[in-house]
Amino acid sequence: MNAISLNNLDISYGDSKVVHGVTLDIAEGESFALVGESGSGKSTILRAIAGLAPDWTGEISVLGKARTHGIERAVARQVQMVFQDPYGSLHPRKTIDAALSEPLAINGIGNRGERVETMLKAVGLDQRFRFRFPHQLSGGQRQRVAIARALMLEPKVLLLDEPTSALDVSVQAEILNLLKRLRREQGLTYLLVTHNLPVVSFLCDRLAVMRHGRIVEVADVAQLKSGQLAEAYSMELLAATEGHAGAAA
Ligand SMILES: Nc1ncnc2c1ncn2[C@@H]1O[C@H](COP(=O)(O)OP(=O)(O)O)[C@@H](O)[C@H]1O
Ligand SMILES: [Mg+2]
Repeated sequence: MNAISLNNLDISYGDSKVVHGVTLDIAEGESFALVGESGSGKSTILRAIAGLAPDWTGEISVLGKARTHGIERAVARQVQMVFQDPYGSLHPRKTIDAALSEPLAINGIGNRGERVETMLKAVGLDQRFRFRFPHQLSGGQRQRVAIARALMLEPKVLLLDEPTSALDVSVQAEILNLLKRLRREQGLTYLLVTHNLPVVSFLCDRLAVMRHGRIVEVADVAQLKSGQLAEAYSMELLAATEGHAGAAA
């Protein structure tokens, strides 16, 4: 079964259509990247899959179930989103304990204290962080909390929108390692948006290159690593990425 299946997906904001005819299958357990210049529609696709972009046509299926335009709690539990800015996505006046307990409370799940402790451990945070507030944590620690929060309902799919690009370079590697380990341990499927092609090489199996709301090319990470992307635009993107400049020359 595909974790995510998009068929001829168009997405608009008001009168302006920003995603055009996107068709894409992502297998269960796969880690898939969307790359492309700013404004190419990557985040918009994640939002539509998460049910946060109301104005779309075409088909979106999650784990074999077609999404409708209504609110679907069952689909929502299976697919969780992690955003770029962990400070913006955590309520400043709620403790970490409250942030992690909330999805459980909303869904009527008990044993909350124990589940919060287990999840803190899973994302590599000491229990002493449990009753702290977001501003008492570093950026990397906050992103660990945001990832923990996304995992509280045991989803199958994580939608990751530039999850490390707001972090210091030294912290990025820690979070990437964490994401790699969590995917392995929990059998997760990732759909990851990033500007950073080394991140794609580290964490993903395949990628789609996007431009102006369309998919230019779908490729394996092996092709990315060997600098053998098919489309001229993809090669331009590769050449523009620091450390890969030589590959396209
Ligand atoms: N809330 C919004 N209202 C109107 N236009 C938007 C909104 N969010 C994004 N856009 C536009 O949609 C296009 C795609 O944006 P986005 O999906 O955020 O791109 P990316 O994530 O690839 O940088 C851009 O032209 C952007 O300006
Ligand atoms: Mg974006």
